[in-house]
Amino acid sequence: SVPVLTIDGPSGSGKGTISRQVAERLGWHLLDSGALYRAVGYVAGLEGLDLTDADALTRCARELKIRFVPAADGSDTRIIVDGLDATDALRTETAGAAASAVASIPGVRAALVDLQLGFRQPPGLVADGRDMGTVIFPDAPTKVFLTASAAERAARRYKQLKDKGLDVTLEVLQREIEARDARDASRAVAPLKPAPDAVVVDTTGMPIATVVEKVLALVRH
Ligand code: CDP
Repeated sequence: SVPVLTIDGPSGSGKGTISRQVAERLGWHLLDSGALYRAVGYVAGLEGLDLTDADALTRCARELKIRFVPAADGSDTRIIVDGLDATDALRTETAGAAASAVASIPGVRAALVDLQLGFRQPPGLVADGRDMGTVIFPDAPTKVFLTASAAERAARRYKQLKDKGLDVTLEVLQREIEARDARDASRAVAPLKPAPDAVVVDTTGMPIATVVEKVLALVRH
């Protein structure tokens, strides 16, 4: 069957960047599963839905129309939701918090399963998320769980958002990330944790290129 590399971990662990670079090096497809939850939160916001209304959010997830359009010039992949370019809106920490809220609803998670499985196409898939190795692709031959110290994860996230021109302070961001991590780890459905057969890589103080090589070595061994 088509090989899958799952890369799970908390916010700021480097998952997004590492997944993108590893997928590029392998020539495999990429699934940014966080974008799906962000998109559901985003559409819910547009429709004025209550972020605790499980039925309405589940319907929203079932009807989600999302497309990933790679930019030809090497810049960020554009994320099109219901025909509109939502890339910038999805990037904010507000969208991250909304994603975390809708992601705790079992109906929302169930509604997104088939969409995620559909990304498994030849020659292979790199799947980035929280439950890629535990729930969505439990049979993946290679599973990685990335971590880093809370301080470093907040600092990385801060730099990333700043670079995109977003107005944030490190202090507020660190608090928001801690709240989101706590919710992701303690929720009843698909809590954030490494799969039993995942290789845990602590990336604190590790340059991106080093992590990329480490992960590629795991796929090829
Ligand atoms: O990049 P960052 O880790 O900050 O965010 P993300 O990967 O886009 O995920 C945003 C939120 O979506 C997370 O805090 C999770 O609550 C949720 N999520 C999830 O529950 N399951 C996934 N496979 C991916 C994201």
